[in-house]
Amino acid sequence: MRKKETITSLKAAKGERKLVMLTAYDALFASLFRESADMLLVGDSLNMSFLGEPDTLSATLDQMIYHTRAVCNGAPESFVVCDMPFGTTNTPGQALENAVKVFQQTRADAIKIEGGQERSALIEHLTDNAIAVMGHVGLMPQSVRSEGGYKVQGRDEKSFQKTLDDAVAVEEAGAFALVVEGVVPDLAAKITETVSIPVIGIGAGRQTDGQVLVWSDMLGLFEAFTPKFVKKYMNGAEAIKEAVAQYAQEVRNGAFPGEEHCYK
Ligand code: KIV
Repeated sequence: MRKKETITSLKAAKGERKLVMLTAYDALFASLFRESADMLLVGDSLNMSFLGEPDTLSATLDQMIYHTRAVCNGAPESFVVCDMPFGTTNTPGQALENAVKVFQQTRADAIKIEGGQERSALIEHLTDNAIAVMGHVGLMPQSVRSEGGYKVQGRDEKSFQKTLDDAVAVEEAGAFALVVEGVVPDLAAKITETVSIPVIGIGAGRQTDGQVLVWSDMLGLFEAFTPKFVKKYMNGAEAIKEAVAQYAQEVRNGAFPGEEHCYK
């Protein structure tokens, strides 16, 4: 069994070993991922791939708490991060109240908050109150409606500098690690060399301190669309459809259950 990561071991990993983060939404899959991943993220992406909503904005705190409890149950020795959903961290007071709920109702080790400079006072308030915070800058899915789409950051000088400043502000506010999503690789590299906390990339190139992927994407289960940055490590959708089709066929033709599946 692998040793549980801590804030200290994760911070110490910077420059020493690449960090592996994977999303997880339930106990069953978390128990399958725990051996290989350093951190499990209960991402609000579950609202899309699990609930079938078109974006993450309608995810609720109760929903995140429910799934985080499941992940903690399935992988008790994993470092688990709970994503704070849209609208639950608008003010320092609201953010602390909701983060405390997450810590009291689950065994999550940390929360994740999307946002940069505009969130730094709020992140500081949380870290001052014993809440471990992972930041998230660059492309922020919770801003999809206000931004008018999912926009890769860092292609122009203004967004390059803004995202870099966001990353620095989040570190200064006390975050222990940072997700950088949907940015050009040069920007991710610049952030990684500038901040002293581990930078976990998604759609951010190769020069970060670690990577995160959404589990249903990397297992080839989510068929609606495949972002450029996703590598499918298996064709899960095909494998599952084939297995279910075989089960259906065997029920219909009487091949299942066989003798070996019947009680004596
Ligand atoms: O919600 C999520 O799964 C995330 C990852 C994409 C980083 O925030």
